[in-house]
Amino acid sequence: MRQRPSVFIPQERTKQDDHMRQVIRHIARLEGTIVPPGDKSISQRAVLLNSIATGPAHVSNLCEGDDRSSILRCTRALGVRISRHSPCPDNSSDECFHVHGAGPDGLTEPETVLNAGNSGTAMRLVTGMLAAQPFLSVVSGDRSLRSRPMDRIVEPLTQMGAQIMGRGKDTLAPLAIRGGDLKAIDYRLPVASAQLKSSIMIAALYAEGRTTIDQPAVSRDHTERMLRSMGADVETEGLRIAVGPSVLSPLDVRVPGDISAAAFWIVAACCHPNARIRVEGVGVNSTRTGVLDVLKDMGARIKLENVREDGEELVADVVAESSDLRATEIGGDMVPRVIDELPLLALAGCFARGTTVIRDASELRVKESDRISGTVRGLAGLGAEIEERPDGMVIDGVGVLTGGECQSGGDHRIAMTMAIAGLMATGQTVVEGAEAAGVSYPQFWDTLESLASSSRVSS
Ligand code: S3P
Repeated sequence: MRQRPSVFIPQERTKQDDHMRQVIRHIARLEGTIVPPGDKSISQRAVLLNSIATGPAHVSNLCEGDDRSSILRCTRALGVRISRHSPCPDNSSDECFHVHGAGPDGLTEPETVLNAGNSGTAMRLVTGMLAAQPFLSVVSGDRSLRSRPMDRIVEPLTQMGAQIMGRGKDTLAPLAIRGGDLKAIDYRLPVASAQLKSSIMIAALYAEGRTTIDQPAVSRDHTERMLRSMGADVETEGLRIAVGPSVLSPLDVRVPGDISAAAFWIVAACCHPNARIRVEGVGVNSTRTGVLDVLKDMGARIKLENVREDGEELVADVVAESSDLRATEIGGDMVPRVIDELPLLALAGCFARGTTVIRDASELRVKESDRISGTVRGLAGLGAEIEERPDGMVIDGVGVLTGGECQSGGDHRIAMTMAIAGLMATGQTVVEGAEAAGVSYPQFWDTLESLASSSRVSS
Protein backbone atom coordinates (compact mmCIF):
# COMPACT_ATOMS: atom_id res chain seq x y z
CA MET A 1 0.00 0.00 0.00
CA ARG A 2 1.17 3.49 -0.79
CA GLN A 3 2.56 5.30 2.22
CA ARG A 4 1.22 8.64 3.16
CA PRO A 5 3.74 11.26 2.08
CA SER A 6 5.33 13.28 4.84
CA VAL A 7 5.45 16.50 2.85
CA PHE A 8 2.25 16.50 1.02
CA ILE A 9 -1.12 15.89 2.56
CA PRO A 10 -3.53 15.48 -0.36
CA GLN A 11 -6.60 16.19 1.76
CA GLU A 12 -5.07 19.55 2.54
CA ARG A 13 -4.87 20.41 -1.12
CA THR A 14 -8.07 22.39 -1.31
CA LYS A 15 -9.62 23.67 -4.48
CA GLN A 16 -12.44 26.10 -4.78
CA ASP A 17 -13.48 27.30 -8.21
CA ASP A 18 -10.09 27.91 -9.82
CA HIS A 19 -8.27 28.62 -6.56
CA MET A 20 -5.93 26.00 -5.08
CA ARG A 21 -4.35 26.07 -1.65
CA GLN A 22 -1.40 23.81 -1.10
CA VAL A 23 0.10 22.70 2.21
CA ILE A 24 3.78 21.71 2.24
CA ARG A 25 5.71 20.28 5.16
CA HIS A 26 9.36 19.73 5.83
CA ILE A 27 10.78 16.52 4.47
CA ALA A 28 13.71 14.80 6.18
CA ARG A 29 15.28 13.31 3.04
CA LEU A 30 14.93 14.35 -0.59
CA GLU A 31 15.87 11.71 -3.10
CA GLY A 32 14.68 10.68 -6.52
CA THR A 33 14.84 10.84 -10.30
CA ILE A 34 12.74 13.34 -12.19
CA VAL A 35 11.99 13.85 -15.87
CA PRO A 36 10.95 17.48 -16.38
CA PRO A 37 8.42 18.60 -19.00
CA GLY A 38 9.58 19.74 -22.45
CA ASP A 39 11.24 23.12 -22.66
CA LYS A 40 8.64 25.86 -22.96
CA SER A 41 10.72 28.23 -25.09
CA ILE A 42 11.80 25.56 -27.57
CA SER A 43 8.26 24.12 -27.73
CA GLN A 44 6.69 27.45 -28.63
CA ARG A 45 9.27 28.04 -31.35
CA ALA A 46 8.90 24.50 -32.75
CA VAL A 47 5.14 25.02 -33.17
CA LEU A 48 5.28 28.58 -34.44
CA LEU A 49 8.16 28.27 -36.90
CA ASN A 50 6.88 24.99 -38.31
CA SER A 51 3.50 26.70 -38.85
CA ILE A 52 5.02 28.85 -41.60
CA ALA A 53 7.31 26.14 -43.00
CA THR A 54 6.61 24.49 -46.32
CA GLY A 55 5.38 21.06 -45.18
CA PRO A 56 4.60 18.80 -42.23
CA ALA A 57 6.85 18.40 -39.18
CA HIS A 58 6.77 16.18 -36.16
CA VAL A 59 7.25 17.66 -32.68
CA SER A 60 7.59 15.44 -29.60
CA ASN A 61 7.97 16.10 -25.89
CA LEU A 62 6.14 19.41 -26.28
CA CYS A 63 5.87 21.45 -23.07
CA GLU A 64 2.78 21.04 -20.92
CA GLY A 65 0.33 23.44 -19.38
CA ASP A 66 -1.52 26.61 -20.26
CA ASP A 67 1.36 28.15 -22.24
CA ARG A 68 1.33 25.19 -24.61
CA SER A 69 -2.42 25.66 -25.10
CA SER A 70 -1.80 29.33 -25.86
CA ILE A 71 0.61 28.76 -28.74
CA LEU A 72 -1.49 25.92 -30.18
CA ARG A 73 -4.65 28.05 -29.96
CA CYS A 74 -3.04 31.05 -31.69
CA THR A 75 -1.48 29.08 -34.56
CA ARG A 76 -4.62 26.99 -35.13
CA ALA A 77 -6.71 30.18 -35.23
CA LEU A 78 -4.49 31.30 -38.12
CA GLY A 79 -5.51 28.25 -40.12
CA VAL A 80 -2.58 25.95 -39.28
CA ARG A 81 -3.54 22.28 -38.94
CA ILE A 82 -1.95 20.73 -35.87
CA SER A 83 -2.86 17.21 -34.84
CA ARG A 84 -2.01 15.50 -31.58
CA HIS A 85 -1.13 11.80 -31.56
CA SER A 86 -1.04 9.69 -28.44
CA PRO A 87 0.90 7.48 -28.58
CA CYS A 88 3.10 8.79 -31.34
CA PRO A 89 2.54 6.77 -34.59
CA ASP A 90 6.19 5.65 -34.70
CA ASN A 91 5.97 4.69 -31.00
CA SER A 92 8.95 6.93 -30.24
CA SER A 93 7.06 8.74 -27.46
CA ASP A 94 3.78 8.80 -25.55
CA GLU A 95 2.55 11.85 -27.38
CA CYS A 96 3.54 13.99 -30.35
CA PHE A 97 2.18 16.70 -32.61
CA HIS A 98 2.12 17.01 -36.37
CA VAL A 99 2.32 20.61 -37.50
CA HIS A 100 1.16 20.91 -41.09
CA GLY A 101 3.16 23.97 -42.13
CA ALA A 102 1.04 26.41 -44.11
CA GLY A 103 4.05 27.91 -45.91
CA PRO A 104 5.09 31.56 -45.69
CA ASP A 105 1.87 32.83 -47.33
CA GLY A 106 -0.55 30.21 -46.10
CA LEU A 107 -1.88 31.75 -42.87
CA THR A 108 -5.47 33.00 -42.93
CA GLU A 109 -7.11 36.00 -41.27
CA PRO A 110 -8.37 34.97 -37.82
CA GLU A 111 -12.11 35.32 -37.24
CA THR A 112 -11.72 36.53 -33.71
CA VAL A 113 -9.20 37.82 -31.17
CA LEU A 114 -6.16 35.57 -30.77
CA ASN A 115 -5.75 34.66 -27.11
CA ALA A 116 -2.13 34.26 -25.94
CA GLY A 117 -3.30 33.53 -22.38
CA ASN A 118 -0.52 34.12 -19.85
CA SER A 119 2.32 33.70 -22.34
CA GLY A 120 4.59 36.63 -23.16
CA THR A 121 6.52 34.41 -25.58
CA ALA A 122 3.38 33.45 -27.54
CA MET A 123 2.20 37.07 -27.64
CA ARG A 124 5.50 38.54 -28.82
CA LEU A 125 6.52 35.81 -31.29
CA VAL A 126 3.06 35.57 -32.83
CA THR A 127 2.94 39.37 -33.21
CA GLY A 128 6.28 39.25 -35.08
CA MET A 129 4.74 36.75 -37.49
CA LEU A 130 1.49 38.73 -37.86
CA ALA A 131 3.42 41.92 -38.64
CA ALA A 132 4.17 40.36 -42.03
CA GLN A 133 0.70 38.99 -42.85
CA PRO A 134 -1.56 40.78 -45.34
CA PHE A 135 -4.58 40.81 -43.03
CA LEU A 136 -5.86 42.23 -39.77
CA SER A 137 -5.47 40.42 -36.49
CA VAL A 138 -5.94 41.26 -32.86
CA VAL A 139 -3.89 39.55 -30.12
CA SER A 140 -4.63 39.68 -26.43
CA GLY A 141 -4.17 37.64 -23.28
CA ASP A 142 -5.03 37.36 -19.61
CA ARG A 143 -4.88 40.23 -17.14
CA SER A 144 -1.17 39.68 -16.41
CA LEU A 145 -0.24 39.65 -20.10
CA ARG A 146 -2.37 42.73 -20.80
CA SER A 147 -0.27 44.64 -18.26
CA ARG A 148 3.14 43.70 -19.73
CA PRO A 149 5.08 46.07 -22.01
CA MET A 150 4.45 45.55 -25.70
CA ASP A 151 5.99 48.82 -26.90
CA ARG A 152 9.30 46.98 -27.09
CA ILE A 153 7.93 44.92 -30.04
CA VAL A 154 5.54 47.54 -31.43
CA GLU A 155 8.39 49.97 -32.05
CA PRO A 156 10.68 47.81 -34.25
CA LEU A 157 7.82 46.05 -36.04
CA THR A 158 6.30 49.45 -36.88
CA GLN A 159 9.68 50.63 -38.14
CA MET A 160 9.67 47.61 -40.44
CA GLY A 161 6.36 48.72 -41.92
CA ALA A 162 3.59 47.02 -39.91
CA GLN A 163 0.65 49.01 -38.54
CA ILE A 164 0.11 48.16 -34.89
CA MET A 165 -2.25 49.77 -32.41
CA GLY A 166 -2.76 48.95 -28.78
CA ARG A 167 -4.04 50.28 -25.48
CA GLY A 168 -1.96 52.81 -23.54
CA LYS A 169 -0.69 54.61 -26.64
CA ASP A 170 0.24 51.35 -28.38
CA THR A 171 2.16 49.95 -25.42
CA LEU A 172 -0.27 47.32 -24.11
CA ALA A 173 -2.36 44.42 -25.41
CA PRO A 174 -4.79 43.94 -27.00
CA LEU A 175 -2.73 44.76 -30.07
CA ALA A 176 -4.39 45.21 -33.47
CA ILE A 177 -1.98 44.38 -36.27
CA ARG A 178 -2.36 45.09 -39.94
CA GLY A 179 0.61 43.38 -41.50
CA GLY A 180 2.50 45.06 -44.24
CA ASP A 181 5.18 44.69 -46.83
CA LEU A 182 8.10 44.78 -44.44
CA LYS A 183 11.53 46.23 -44.98
CA ALA A 184 14.70 45.34 -43.10
CA ILE A 185 15.92 47.47 -40.19
CA ASP A 186 19.10 47.79 -38.16
CA TYR A 187 17.96 47.62 -34.58
CA ARG A 188 19.67 47.92 -31.22
CA LEU A 189 17.69 46.08 -28.54
CA PRO A 190 17.03 48.25 -25.48
CA VAL A 191 16.84 45.08 -23.31
CA ALA A 192 18.50 41.67 -23.62
CA SER A 193 15.23 39.92 -24.36
CA ALA A 194 14.92 36.69 -26.34
CA GLN A 195 11.22 37.33 -26.90
CA LEU A 196 11.96 40.71 -28.44
CA LYS A 197 14.80 39.56 -30.70
CA SER A 198 12.76 36.53 -31.80
CA SER A 199 9.78 38.71 -32.68
CA ILE A 200 11.99 40.85 -34.93
CA MET A 201 13.77 37.81 -36.42
CA ILE A 202 10.48 36.19 -37.42
CA ALA A 203 9.28 39.42 -39.08
CA ALA A 204 12.69 39.72 -40.78
CA LEU A 205 12.12 36.42 -42.60
CA TYR A 206 9.50 38.29 -44.63
CA ALA A 207 11.26 41.66 -44.98
CA GLU A 208 12.98 43.07 -47.99
CA GLY A 209 16.69 43.32 -47.20
CA ARG A 210 18.81 42.04 -44.36
CA THR A 211 17.81 42.93 -40.80
CA THR A 212 20.48 43.33 -38.14
CA ILE A 213 19.83 43.09 -34.42
CA ASP A 214 22.40 44.25 -31.84
CA GLN A 215 21.94 42.75 -28.39
CA PRO A 216 23.21 44.34 -25.16
CA ALA A 217 23.94 40.82 -23.83
CA VAL A 218 23.34 37.22 -24.86
CA SER A 219 19.87 35.82 -24.22
CA ARG A 220 18.51 32.37 -25.10
CA ASP A 221 19.32 31.54 -28.71
CA HIS A 222 16.77 28.82 -29.55
CA THR A 223 15.23 30.87 -32.38
CA GLU A 224 18.60 31.38 -34.07
CA ARG A 225 19.42 27.66 -33.84
CA MET A 226 16.04 26.45 -35.06
CA LEU A 227 15.85 28.95 -37.92
CA ARG A 228 19.30 27.94 -39.16
CA SER A 229 18.29 24.26 -39.11
CA MET A 230 15.20 25.19 -41.11
CA GLY A 231 17.40 26.69 -43.82
CA ALA A 232 16.95 30.36 -42.93
CA ASP A 233 19.58 32.96 -43.65
CA VAL A 234 20.64 33.73 -40.05
CA GLU A 235 24.15 34.76 -39.07
CA THR A 236 25.45 35.54 -35.61
CA GLU A 237 28.66 37.39 -34.93
CA GLY A 238 29.30 38.30 -31.32
CA LEU A 239 26.21 40.12 -30.11
CA ARG A 240 24.98 40.92 -33.65
CA ILE A 241 22.41 38.79 -35.47
CA ALA A 242 21.65 39.23 -39.17
CA VAL A 243 18.52 37.77 -40.76
CA GLY A 244 17.74 37.75 -44.46
CA PRO A 245 14.46 36.91 -46.21
CA SER A 246 13.94 33.15 -46.00
CA VAL A 247 11.44 30.39 -46.65
CA LEU A 248 11.54 27.75 -43.91
CA SER A 249 11.83 24.00 -44.43
CA PRO A 250 9.91 21.92 -41.89
CA LEU A 251 11.96 20.63 -38.96
CA ASP A 252 11.23 17.62 -36.77
CA VAL A 253 11.95 18.56 -33.16
CA ARG A 254 12.31 16.44 -30.05
CA VAL A 255 12.05 19.09 -27.36
CA PRO A 256 14.59 18.67 -24.52
CA GLY A 257 13.53 18.84 -20.87
CA ASP A 258 13.06 22.34 -19.51
CA ILE A 259 16.02 23.52 -17.43
CA SER A 260 13.77 26.16 -15.88
CA ALA A 261 11.52 23.36 -14.55
CA ALA A 262 14.52 21.19 -13.60
CA ALA A 263 15.91 24.13 -11.62
CA PHE A 264 13.25 23.73 -8.91
CA TRP A 265 14.55 20.27 -8.02
CA ILE A 266 18.21 21.21 -8.49
CA VAL A 267 17.91 24.14 -6.07
CA ALA A 268 15.90 21.97 -3.66
CA ALA A 269 18.65 19.36 -3.64
CA CYS A 270 21.45 21.91 -3.15
CA CYS A 271 19.71 23.68 -0.24
CA HIS A 272 18.35 20.63 1.55
CA PRO A 273 20.75 19.09 4.11
CA ASN A 274 19.97 15.51 3.10
CA ALA A 275 19.30 15.30 -0.61
CA ARG A 276 20.31 13.82 -3.93
CA ILE A 277 18.20 14.37 -7.02
CA ARG A 278 18.79 13.34 -10.60
CA VAL A 279 16.97 15.23 -13.35
CA GLU A 280 17.04 13.48 -16.71
CA GLY A 281 17.07 14.79 -20.27
CA VAL A 282 17.58 18.46 -19.42
CA GLY A 283 18.37 21.01 -22.16
CA VAL A 284 21.76 22.50 -21.27
CA ASN A 285 22.18 25.11 -24.01
CA SER A 286 24.79 27.52 -22.60
CA THR A 287 22.40 30.50 -22.93
CA ARG A 288 20.19 28.76 -20.35
CA THR A 289 22.64 27.21 -17.90
CA GLY A 290 23.29 30.36 -15.87
CA VAL A 291 21.46 28.74 -12.96
CA LEU A 292 23.98 25.87 -12.90
CA ASP A 293 26.93 28.27 -13.23
CA VAL A 294 25.71 30.50 -10.40
CA LEU A 295 24.99 27.53 -8.12
CA LYS A 296 28.41 25.99 -8.85
CA ASP A 297 29.98 29.34 -8.07
CA MET A 298 28.14 29.19 -4.74
CA GLY A 299 29.79 25.83 -4.07
CA ALA A 300 26.93 23.58 -5.18
CA ARG A 301 27.55 19.90 -5.83
CA ILE A 302 26.13 19.55 -9.33
CA LYS A 303 27.26 17.10 -12.00
CA LEU A 304 26.28 16.79 -15.65
CA GLU A 305 26.14 13.22 -16.96
CA ASN A 306 25.42 11.78 -20.43
CA VAL A 307 25.95 15.10 -22.14
CA ARG A 308 24.73 14.63 -25.71
CA GLU A 309 23.60 16.57 -28.75
CA ASP A 310 19.98 16.22 -29.73
CA GLY A 311 19.12 18.13 -32.89
CA GLU A 312 19.88 21.79 -32.35
CA GLU A 313 20.32 21.51 -28.59
CA LEU A 314 22.64 20.01 -25.97
CA VAL A 315 21.02 17.67 -23.44
CA ALA A 316 22.29 16.12 -20.18
CA ASP A 317 21.23 14.45 -16.95
CA VAL A 318 21.83 16.72 -13.98
CA VAL A 319 22.66 15.32 -10.55
CA ALA A 320 22.47 17.71 -7.60
CA GLU A 321 23.24 17.00 -3.95
CA SER A 322 23.14 18.73 -0.57
CA SER A 323 25.74 21.49 -0.67
CA ASP A 324 27.50 23.88 1.61
CA LEU A 325 26.52 27.08 -0.21
CA ARG A 326 28.21 30.47 0.04
CA ALA A 327 26.68 33.79 -1.00
CA THR A 328 27.21 35.31 -4.41
CA GLU A 329 26.51 38.40 -6.54
CA ILE A 330 24.40 38.10 -9.67
CA GLY A 331 24.25 40.96 -12.16
CA GLY A 332 25.27 42.23 -15.60
CA ASP A 333 25.41 39.76 -18.47
CA MET A 334 24.52 36.86 -16.21
CA VAL A 335 20.98 38.19 -15.69
CA PRO A 336 19.45 37.15 -19.07
CA ARG A 337 20.98 33.68 -18.59
CA VAL A 338 19.15 33.20 -15.26
CA ILE A 339 16.16 35.45 -15.79
CA ASP A 340 13.52 32.80 -14.98
CA GLU A 341 15.54 31.27 -12.13
CA LEU A 342 16.20 34.41 -10.08
CA PRO A 343 13.39 33.75 -7.57
CA LEU A 344 14.92 30.30 -6.99
CA LEU A 345 18.43 31.73 -6.68
CA ALA A 346 17.08 34.17 -4.08
CA LEU A 347 15.85 31.09 -2.21
CA ALA A 348 19.30 29.50 -2.54
CA GLY A 349 20.69 32.72 -1.06
CA CYS A 350 18.65 32.07 2.11
CA PHE A 351 20.69 28.89 2.63
CA ALA A 352 24.09 30.32 1.68
CA ARG A 353 26.69 31.69 4.08
CA GLY A 354 26.89 35.48 3.68
CA THR A 355 24.90 38.08 1.77
CA THR A 356 23.69 37.35 -1.75
CA VAL A 357 23.03 40.34 -4.02
CA ILE A 358 20.90 40.25 -7.18
CA ARG A 359 21.14 43.44 -9.27
CA ASP A 360 20.50 44.67 -12.85
CA ALA A 361 17.35 42.56 -12.85
CA SER A 362 14.56 45.15 -13.15
CA GLU A 363 13.18 43.05 -16.06
CA LEU A 364 11.84 40.78 -13.32
CA ARG A 365 9.26 43.45 -12.56
CA VAL A 366 7.59 42.96 -15.96
CA LYS A 367 7.34 39.17 -16.02
CA GLU A 368 4.08 37.26 -15.37
CA SER A 369 4.03 39.29 -12.14
CA ASP A 370 6.46 41.67 -10.44
CA ARG A 371 8.84 38.90 -9.42
CA ILE A 372 11.05 41.11 -7.27
CA SER A 373 8.26 42.09 -4.90
CA GLY A 374 6.60 38.64 -5.19
CA THR A 375 9.81 36.83 -4.23
CA VAL A 376 10.66 39.24 -1.42
CA ARG A 377 7.14 39.17 0.04
CA GLY A 378 6.89 35.39 -0.31
CA LEU A 379 10.25 34.46 1.17
CA ALA A 380 10.05 37.09 3.92
CA GLY A 381 6.72 35.54 4.94
CA LEU A 382 8.49 32.19 5.33
CA GLY A 383 11.18 33.68 7.59
CA ALA A 384 13.83 34.88 5.13
CA GLU A 385 16.00 37.97 5.68
CA ILE A 386 15.45 39.55 2.29
CA GLU A 387 15.25 43.13 1.11
CA GLU A 388 13.80 44.61 -2.06
CA ARG A 389 15.89 46.87 -4.34
CA PRO A 390 14.61 48.67 -7.45
CA ASP A 391 16.60 46.31 -9.68
CA GLY A 392 16.93 43.23 -7.49
CA MET A 393 17.16 41.85 -3.97
CA VAL A 394 19.60 41.42 -1.10
CA ILE A 395 19.40 38.19 0.86
CA ASP A 396 21.08 37.38 4.17
CA GLY A 397 21.74 33.67 4.35
CA VAL A 398 20.21 32.78 7.69
CA GLY A 399 20.28 29.08 6.86
CA VAL A 400 16.77 28.39 8.04
CA LEU A 401 13.19 29.19 7.04
CA THR A 402 10.28 28.86 9.41
CA GLY A 403 7.44 28.39 6.91
CA GLY A 404 4.20 30.34 6.83
CA GLU A 405 1.55 31.50 4.40
CA CYS A 406 2.36 32.94 0.98
CA GLN A 407 0.65 33.89 -2.27
CA SER A 408 1.59 32.97 -5.82
CA GLY A 409 0.18 36.24 -7.14
CA GLY A 410 -0.99 34.16 -10.11
CA ASP A 411 2.63 33.56 -11.13
CA HIS A 412 3.70 29.96 -11.83
CA ARG A 413 7.35 30.44 -10.91
CA ILE A 414 6.53 32.16 -7.61
CA ALA A 415 4.07 29.37 -6.67
CA MET A 416 6.70 26.68 -7.28
CA THR A 417 9.59 28.59 -5.67
CA MET A 418 7.54 28.95 -2.48
CA ALA A 419 6.69 25.24 -2.52
CA ILE A 420 10.39 24.35 -2.74
CA ALA A 421 11.07 26.77 0.12
CA GLY A 422 8.37 24.93 2.08
CA LEU A 423 10.23 21.62 1.69
CA MET A 424 13.15 23.07 3.63
CA ALA A 425 11.22 25.15 6.17
CA THR A 426 10.96 23.88 9.72
CA GLY A 427 7.23 24.55 10.01
CA GLN A 428 4.28 24.22 7.68
CA THR A 429 4.00 26.30 4.48
CA VAL A 430 0.79 27.18 2.68
CA VAL A 431 0.88 28.35 -0.94
CA GLU A 432 -2.29 30.20 -1.92
CA GLY A 433 -2.95 30.33 -5.65
CA ALA A 434 -1.02 27.09 -6.19
CA GLU A 435 -2.97 26.45 -9.42
CA ALA A 436 -0.65 28.95 -11.15
CA ALA A 437 1.96 26.17 -11.52
CA GLY A 438 -0.26 24.79 -14.30
CA VAL A 439 0.96 27.52 -16.66
CA SER A 440 4.27 25.72 -17.22
CA TYR A 441 4.38 22.62 -15.02
CA PRO A 442 1.01 20.94 -14.37
CA GLN A 443 2.78 17.82 -13.01
CA PHE A 444 4.71 19.84 -10.43
CA TRP A 445 2.51 19.03 -7.42
CA ASP A 446 2.30 15.33 -8.29
CA THR A 447 6.07 15.17 -8.77
CA LEU A 448 6.52 16.84 -5.40
CA GLU A 449 4.19 14.32 -3.83
CA SER A 450 5.87 11.29 -5.38
CA LEU A 451 9.32 12.60 -4.48
CA ALA A 452 8.15 13.07 -0.92
CA SER A 453 6.62 9.60 -0.67
CA SER A 454 9.51 7.75 -2.32
CA SER A 455 12.01 9.70 -0.25
CA ARG A 456 10.12 8.65 2.83
CA VAL A 457 10.14 5.01 1.76
CA SER A 458 13.85 5.03 1.00
CA SER A 459 14.95 7.04 4.00
C1 S3P B 1 11.54 33.51 -23.13
C2 S3P B 1 12.42 34.51 -22.85
C3 S3P B 1 12.60 35.09 -21.52
C4 S3P B 1 11.90 34.29 -20.42
C5 S3P B 1 10.59 33.73 -20.82
C6 S3P B 1 10.70 32.91 -22.09
C7 S3P B 1 11.47 33.02 -24.51
O1 S3P B 1 12.10 36.38 -21.57
O2 S3P B 1 11.73 35.08 -19.27
O3 S3P B 1 10.08 32.90 -19.79
O4 S3P B 1 10.91 31.95 -24.74
O5 S3P B 1 11.98 33.72 -25.41
P1 S3P B 1 13.00 37.58 -22.17
O6 S3P B 1 14.27 37.01 -22.73
O7 S3P B 1 12.18 38.16 -23.25
O8 S3P B 1 13.25 38.46 -20.99
